[in-house]
Amino acid sequence: MDLRLTGKTALITGGTSGIGLAIARRLGQEGCRVAICGRSKAKLDAALADLSAVTAKGFIADVCKPADVAALVDDAIKTFGRIDIVVSNAGTHLSGRIDQVAGDDLVRHFQTKVVGPWELARRVAPKMREQGGGRIIIIIGQTGKVPQADAIASTVTNAAQHAFVKSLSDELAPANILVNAVCPSRIKSPLTEGMTLHNEIYLGRSLEQQQSKWGAEVPLGRWGAPEDIANAVAFLASDRAGFICGANIDVDGGHQRSIF
Ligand SMILES: NC(=O)c1ccc[n+]([C@@H]2O[C@H](COP(=O)([O-])OP(=O)(O)OC[C@H]3O[C@@H](n4cnc5c(N)ncnc54)[C@H](OP(=O)(O)O)[C@@H]3O)[C@@H](O)[C@H]2O)c1
Repeated sequence: MDLRLTGKTALITGGTSGIGLAIARRLGQEGCRVAICGRSKAKLDAALADLSAVTAKGFIADVCKPADVAALVDDAIKTFGRIDIVVSNAGTHLSGRIDQVAGDDLVRHFQTKVVGPWELARRVAPKMREQGGGRIIIIIGQTGKVPQADAIASTVTNAAQHAFVKSLSDELAPANILVNAVCPSRIKSPLTEGMTLHNEIYLGRSLEQQQSKWGAEVPLGRWGAPEDIANAVAFLASDRAGFICGANIDVDGGHQRSIF
């Protein structure tokens, strides 16, 4: 299927690793010009080397900082002239029960996952309105739909992300700006590699035991790859998904236990 993305510009936060890098690669292969950001210069340089076959530009930005987000949008527009697609992907998973997560850690997590995409949407939506439309896609972990006591901060934050996607999509749909979410689970990336190490230490399971347990819990019987998320994002970014608005799509091999 030709996604007709050639010539569009996509901005991907956290495009220097795992899922974000796969999204940048996939959109670049579809003919998009891609702008990526992250906090680490070393990761950014490595990602740009990985993306050498596509038109890509990298920026250092911490999405927790509104000034960084404003500069990121300005710099991407200065470089490519416009932004057609935004993918808010930057972030991590915050595990732990209520007695293990300090309020400050929750706030920091909320700033990354909710305030960052919020500031980005505030900056980009006026430009997309002027252009006659655009796409905003937010990557949301599944604890927002299936609350977990041992990941209470991620649960609360991800639920807020869902509320944000739905209300933002209502507001922007009349301007032909389609807002949707893609919800990964059990995707192999540096993030999930770190989580298996965490469980190895705290639950006494070996890395292999933990990885195989988590893979076996997926109905398809295996882990997914960042490219699985990237394929869904590329479709949602395309004209082919022109009537999908305010939706959240699980890409998880069937792992999600919620029917909503
Ligand atoms: N993998 C999964 O199965 C899974 C499941 C549920 C949800 N997710 C979500 O999917 C997204 C991508 O995860 P991943 O697995 O690809 O993780 P990853 O490999 O660790 O990548 C995270 C990316 O986000 C960037 N980042 C983190 N905090 C940032 C900040 N404050 N400002 C700017 N960039 C920031 C990182 O770069 P720097 O460190 O250099 O900033 C990196 O590029 C995350 O939001 C994660 O919570 C993933």
